[in-house]
Amino acid sequence: MTANPGSDRLDALLAQVLGSVGGADPRVRELVGGLVTHLHAFVRETRPTEAEWLRAVDFLVRVGQTCTETRNEFILLSDMLGVTSAVDEVNHTGPPTMTPSSVEGPFHSPAPPRPVGAWIAEGPERHRGEPAVVHGRVTDCDGNPLAGAVLDVWQSNDTGLYDSQDAEQPDGNLRALLTTGDDGAYWFRTVKPSSYPVPTDGPVGELLRAIGRHPMRPAHVHIKVQAAGHRPLTTHIFVAGDPYLGSDAAFAVKDALVTDFLPSADARFGMDGPFLAAEFDIRLVEEGDPR
Ligand code: BEZ
Ligand code: FE
Repeated sequence: MTANPGSDRLDALLAQVLGSVGGADPRVRELVGGLVTHLHAFVRETRPTEAEWLRAVDFLVRVGQTCTETRNEFILLSDMLGVTSAVDEVNHTGPPTMTPSSVEGPFHSPAPPRPVGAWIAEGPERHRGEPAVVHGRVTDCDGNPLAGAVLDVWQSNDTGLYDSQDAEQPDGNLRALLTTGDDGAYWFRTVKPSSYPVPTDGPVGELLRAIGRHPMRPAHVHIKVQAAGHRPLTTHIFVAGDPYLGSDAAFAVKDALVTDFLPSADARFGMDGPFLAAEFDIRLVEEGDPR
C-alpha cells in the first residue's frame, strides 16, 4: 500500500467532477466548484468509511426533517459550526469606527412600534427581572446623528426565553420598533436578559453532545438598524461579565459589542427604584463607502 492510497485516481476523479461543472452563471460555477473541491479534500484527508458517510447523510436528512415553519435546524447547524459568523465576517467590512455586525439568529419576528423610552417588558419578568435601560445614539461613522433611524429590538427575558417560547409572555413582549429623533438618540426600558441554551432536542443537539460542546449563548439584546443612505446593520449587545462570552455556542461575540449593564441613578430615565443602564452607540456605514 502507498502512503496515500488511490491518490492519482482521486486527482482524476476531482478533475472529472470539476470539468462537469458548467452552466451560464459564473458565480454558480465558482460556488459549486469550490464546494466540490473542499468536499473531496475532506474525504481525502479523513477517509470516512462507507458506514460513517451514510451516517453523515442520515444526519443531514434528519436536520431537514426537523425543520418546520418556525424552526430552521439547518440555520442552527450553520450557527453552531461558526459558518453563519464566517459569512457575516466576509460580508460586513467597513471603517474601523463602524459598529460590528453579528448573526441574526432564529428568534426574530415582527415587533410592535413603540415610542422611544417605552417599557418593552410587559410579561411577568417586569416584576421579577433586573430593571434595565438600554440607551445610545445612532450616528454615521463620523459621529453625526442619524434622525429617523429605525431600530428593531428583540431579547429573551430574565429566564432566557423569547415570547415565542413562553406561554407566560404576551406576543411582541421584549420586542420593539423604535425611531430615533433629531439627535439620533434611542432608549428603552426592559429587564436584563439572561444567557440561554439553543434548542438541543434535535440532531444539532446530538451533534453538540457528541463533540462535547455546551449549547449556551451569553446574555444579549438583538438589534437591527436601518437608516436612509446607510447600510443596514444586524447586531447584538452582549452583557459584560456573562460567563459564556468566551464560549458562545454561535461564535457571534465581538469585543466591541460587549457592554456594561451598570447600576445607575440617572433621573432622565424616570425609573422608580434601582436599575441598570447600558449605553450602546450604533455607528452605521454610509451606502457607497468603499471600505
Ligand atoms: C439567538 O441569539 O437568538 C441565536 C443565534 C444563533 C443560534 C441560536 C440562537
Ligand atoms: Fe438571541
